[in-house]
Amino acid sequence: MTTSTNSGRSKWKSPSNIALVKYWGKKGFQIPSNASLSFTLSNCHTITELEWEASTELSVEVFFEGRKNEAFAPKVLSFFEHVSNEHPVLKNYRYKLHTENTFPHSSGIASSASGMSALALCVCSMLVELGGTIPDFFQEASHLARIGSGSASRSVYGGLVEWGIHDDYDGSSDHYAVPYKKAHNVFNNFQDTILIVHEGQKSVSSSIGHGLLNDHPLAERRFDIAQQNMEKLKEILDSGDLDKFVELVEFEALMLHSLMMTSSPSYILMEPNTLAIIQKIRDFRKQNGTHITFTLDAGANVHLLYPEKDIDMAKQLLDNELVGHCVNGKYICDNVGNGPTQLEC
Ligand code: PMV
Repeated sequence: MTTSTNSGRSKWKSPSNIALVKYWGKKGFQIPSNASLSFTLSNCHTITELEWEASTELSVEVFFEGRKNEAFAPKVLSFFEHVSNEHPVLKNYRYKLHTENTFPHSSGIASSASGMSALALCVCSMLVELGGTIPDFFQEASHLARIGSGSASRSVYGGLVEWGIHDDYDGSSDHYAVPYKKAHNVFNNFQDTILIVHEGQKSVSSSIGHGLLNDHPLAERRFDIAQQNMEKLKEILDSGDLDKFVELVEFEALMLHSLMMTSSPSYILMEPNTLAIIQKIRDFRKQNGTHITFTLDAGANVHLLYPEKDIDMAKQLLDNELVGHCVNGKYICDNVGNGPTQLEC
């Protein structure tokens, strides 16, 4: 990092994450309607370099994979406007952002968690360089990341990460995420193979989806169920009960999508191949007694989740049954990772 008060740079690499109990629905500004918990990934990440220069007016320029990107700029500007309400010094700069993902932009993998957490970490480094005091660097980064994208708050830590107030999770907060460190070691090197079923833009964005839940007749019930599932998940994480893990994780994925399908207007993000894959995972599990399971994000792609002991069986399932349902046979191999790292500029 090279810096003076007038100008400087910071650079971070931050991973994406996959939720086991889903955040779906918000109250007020970026406050979750229920707690959620995710695995931080390793290979799917964003690298962002932030350049700042003193200016009388806050402005941003965004370069995505080396090229100026006008489409991303409004979201980044809005992020800076919001976070500068908390850190007014940020208003006195103009920003250049160079960002790239390790996963293809068109792969249908949401980049908001990795992108917004990388940006928030760069901003925290900038605040430190400018002489600000941040009592807990990662907590502040999580708080700022949440302002950009709720799920991004969980990406600033590695392993299992919880976000949202819940009595069973010590130190939990609606404002920032906290790492969950007490899990059984069966969850240590969990694998996530992301099966690409659909590429390109989703028909309904997450922010519209969160909004549609407000008028959903089952919204309140959903928030209660999610809080109960967080309670059950804690027991499962502590005991290492993989049968219960499979049941809960699949329930959460399918509940998320049933809420989408029964929103008004209704929308369906799953594709026929999503369902074909789910069916094959379940059939395979029945026949082979493994703990290979799945979850879904707000999209058609299937996250094939499995413990280390099932790696060989998962490979067999993937090669023999699932790869034919992926766009051009595409999938991304990932696993639980250690969280973000700061890079040299
Ligand atoms: O962070 P957002 O606003 O993109 O919402 C993410 C919502 C889900 O990915 C579907 C669930 C989650 O908890 O990550």
